[in-house]
Formats: sequence, C-alpha cells, structure tokens
Amino acid sequence: MFVVSVSLSKSVPRDADAVIVGLTQVSGTPALVDLPSALEKDLTKRWGTSPLAVALDLGAKTKSGSTVILPTAGGVRLVVVGLGDVDVTPEQVRRAVANGVRALARLEPASPLHVVVSLDLVEPEVIKGAAEGALLGAYTYTKVGSEPDELLRVVTVVSPSTKLEAKDAVTAAVAIAAGVNQTRDWINTPANILYPETFAAAAVATSKKAKLEVEVLDEKALAKAGYGGILAVGMGSERPPRLVRISYAPRGARNHLALIGKGITFDTGGINIKPGDSMYTMKCDMSGAATVISAIQVIAELGLKISVTVYAAMAENMPSGSAQRPSDVITMYGGTTVENYNSDAEGRLVMADALARAAEDKPDLLVDVATLTGACVVALGERTAGLMASDDQTADRLLDAAEAAGEAFWQLPITDEVGDQLISKVADLRSGGHRWGGALTAAAFLQRFTDGIDWAHLDIAGPAFNEKEPYDYVPSGGTGVAVRTLVALAQSLQG
Ligand code: BES
Ligand code: MN
Ligand code: ZN
Repeated sequence: MFVVSVSLSKSVPRDADAVIVGLTQVSGTPALVDLPSALEKDLTKRWGTSPLAVALDLGAKTKSGSTVILPTAGGVRLVVVGLGDVDVTPEQVRRAVANGVRALARLEPASPLHVVVSLDLVEPEVIKGAAEGALLGAYTYTKVGSEPDELLRVVTVVSPSTKLEAKDAVTAAVAIAAGVNQTRDWINTPANILYPETFAAAAVATSKKAKLEVEVLDEKALAKAGYGGILAVGMGSERPPRLVRISYAPRGARNHLALIGKGITFDTGGINIKPGDSMYTMKCDMSGAATVISAIQVIAELGLKISVTVYAAMAENMPSGSAQRPSDVITMYGGTTVENYNSDAEGRLVMADALARAAEDKPDLLVDVATLTGACVVALGERTAGLMASDDQTADRLLDAAEAAGEAFWQLPITDEVGDQLISKVADLRSGGHRWGGALTAAAFLQRFTDGIDWAHLDIAGPAFNEKEPYDYVPSGGTGVAVRTLVALAQSLQG
C-alpha cells in the first residue's frame, strides 16, 4: 500500500513542490501567514511585486473556502487558502488545507507531490487538523482494478513547536486519516465485490494487522445462536449474512465501549422494493459497519487506554423467493419477537440483534452507527448526522466528542409518542410506526435491545455518502463520517 510520509518541521524543506499558506486579516489588513521570508523575497524579485499582491490580484479572499494557486516560480507553487478573519479552529484548518490540496490535484494530476503546510500552527489540535486535512483532501476512489493516482508523496507541517504533543498530533492524524480513508474505500466498493463474506474477510485481515482479536459468525453459527434479525434480513440474498466481533482490551483500561455498526452491503428494500432512484446509492448502507471497524483499528493503533468491542452486522437486503415478508414475525437474538412491518426497515433488525449481543458483554456505553433512516436526512439534511441517546448526559458525551473531531451531529428526541407506535398485536414489538418522525421511531425500536445500558445512536444516513461534488475534505462517494468522532469519544473515556 502507498503510504504518504507526514512530518513536522521548523522550516520549509528545499524539495517542496507546493507550499500552502493562509490569507487572514492582521490588524485590518490582509496578510499571508506564514510565508517564509526567503521565499517571499525570491518571489518578489521574480515578479516585481509581492506574492500577497499577486494573490489578491488573482482573487484570493480571507473567507474560509477561498483557494488560489499562484504561478510556479523556481519549481514551487504557492497555494493561498482563506483562513477566516477571527480565531482559527482546527476544523477551519482541516478544511482550508484540504481545499488547497484538492486545488493542487486539479492542477497536477498524477504526480506525487511534496506539499508543505505553512500556516503558523502551534497548538497540537490545529497541527492535527492540518495533517488530517491534507490526507483526507487528497483521497480519491479510483476505477475498480486500477491503481489510484497518488497526489501526495510527502506532507510537511511547518510549526515552531517542538513539543512532544505536536509530534503526537501528527501521529494521531496519520492513523485517523488512514481509518477514515479505509472506511471510504469500503463504502465505495460496489456491492458485487463487497458483500457480507468479503466484507467480513476484509475486517478480519485489517483487524489482524492491527493485532486485534476478531471472530466471524457465518450463517450456520448465526442460526445456532438465534440471530433471527440478521438471518431474516439476509435470507433473501444468495450471499449469506455475517456478524463480525472485534475486541481490543489493553492493560489498565477501566472503561468498556461497545461499537455496533449497520453493514447492509446493499439495500434494495427487499420485498418492499425501493424505486430505482433511491436504490442507486445503497451500496453505502454498510457505512456504519465500515466506520466502527475502522474506528477500533485506529483506537488500537493509537494505544488508547480503553476496552472496545465492535459488532458489525452484515447482510444483503434482496427481494427473492426466499426473502422475508412484511408481517412476518421474527424471533430476535435474546428471544424478543418482532413483527416485520416493512422489509425496507431492515437496518433496525440487524442492529437490534447486534445491540442485544453487545449488551450481554455489559459495556459501560453502547454506541451504534447506522445509515438508518431517510427521515433523518429529511430532518437534518445531507451534512448533519442525527444523534439519539438513552439520556442527555450520554448525548452530551457524544456531542463533545463530535465537536472535538469537527463533525456535525444534532440531537433528536426519542418521544413516548413514537415508542407507542411499536405495539404489535402478534408479537412483542412491531418494527415500525407511521410516517412522521421515522428517525425517532427507529431509535425507539433499537432502545428496546439495549438492556438499560447507556446508549447513543448515530443515524448517518445523510452524511455517510456524498452524491454531489467534493467539498472541503469531503470527497464524492463514501465520506467516512463518524470515525473521527468515535476516536475522540474513546480518547475522552480513557483511564
Ligand atoms: N438504508 C435506508 C436508509 C437510508 C436512506 C440510508 C437514505 C441512506 C440514505 C433504510 O434501510 C431504509 O430504507 N429506511 C426506510 C425505513 C422505513 C421503511 C421505515 C426509510 O427511511 O424510508
Ligand atoms: Mn432499507
Ligand atoms: Zn438500509
């Protein structure tokens, strides 16, 4: 695998191909931070005017998102990114650097570059943001079977700080970006290539590399243990379901976090088949599983002091002669019976089994991640994920982690009204209610399988997959949303 080397330096290395500098206001006038004076002198001599004047002439703005590339001079390109006018947050840096890198990619395709980020970064969190921005912004998913065009060869983050925390920030960024990009790759892989068996195999291979313990239940093992939800969803497909369990238990860990992910490798809707337009992107319906598998690997690589167990529920939701029907009654893992309200509400069935199993381990906190409902996208749009939780303190834990990671989550309630819709005449529970508030109904259903353990549910149906053009550090296709939040959560629960 191609690895970009990322390091910290006090100055701009000689072999730089491009230097990213920021445009901000310094006491009311625009200024370039942090353009090394030697480079500034050199460019001023060549152009007969200052690089700042050239940048402004080419339309560079201080506004976040603005990116201008100056003409090459002496083999080096200056990339001027807007940093905003007030204080610079890690997320602003992440976006600005990614925009700079993406602008370079449009200009210099297929030539691995040494990119230098020179933004006068001191605090570890902004250094981390810069390195993540470069690595996430450079991501592209290439044609099946072909080698990707690598944009980056070396990334150097220039910083006056020589503190250990600064170096650790770079190390963390490299691991986190690798986890996010792996998640993106899995999501982008078409469902005829990535299906439960091959997805589980990929989870095993990468987890073993990360020295994690991993176990796969195949359809026979699932049947033996009574995973009725996963089996019901998977039984319409020629490609049988899997449940992957991965565990990380470092010495000295006091807290135990369980992460549960929805791994529907393709969601046709089943017998309640989806119209073609809404089906087309449904290879992304395994995003939650990809996210939690990558997250535990990053957590292990960073050696965080917390026990983590992952359950990734993998199945393909297909219509066929062997598919489950709406109104079927399923006996779930743990014995609860469920009336299947709609075969397109498959996510909650596989997640309920996995949650019930995860709860048996008695973790301190359950967090599930799923592209669960279109209703959540209607409520919050395509760039904000929904968060529902057993209690507000748990919700706040997640919101704090999301804020630290720079990801957008918004809390939705689980009201009594939606819970009441889950009453069935023929089973303990019905898997859905009426049309409105569908994200809440799904959460209310999942909560029945959490055994009273603190629990948060992340509905990433909106932000998991970007159907539009790339922006900031978000590519087209799989985005890898929530990996960074889960790692930040694990960091906050260490001890
Ligand atoms: N995988 C979908 C949800 C989804 C929608 C993900 C859009 C990503 C983008 C899920 O399985 C589903 O089909 N949900 C139904 C639930 C309904 C039948 C209760 C929905 O949202 O319509
Ligand atoms: Mn569905
Ligand atoms: Zn689905």
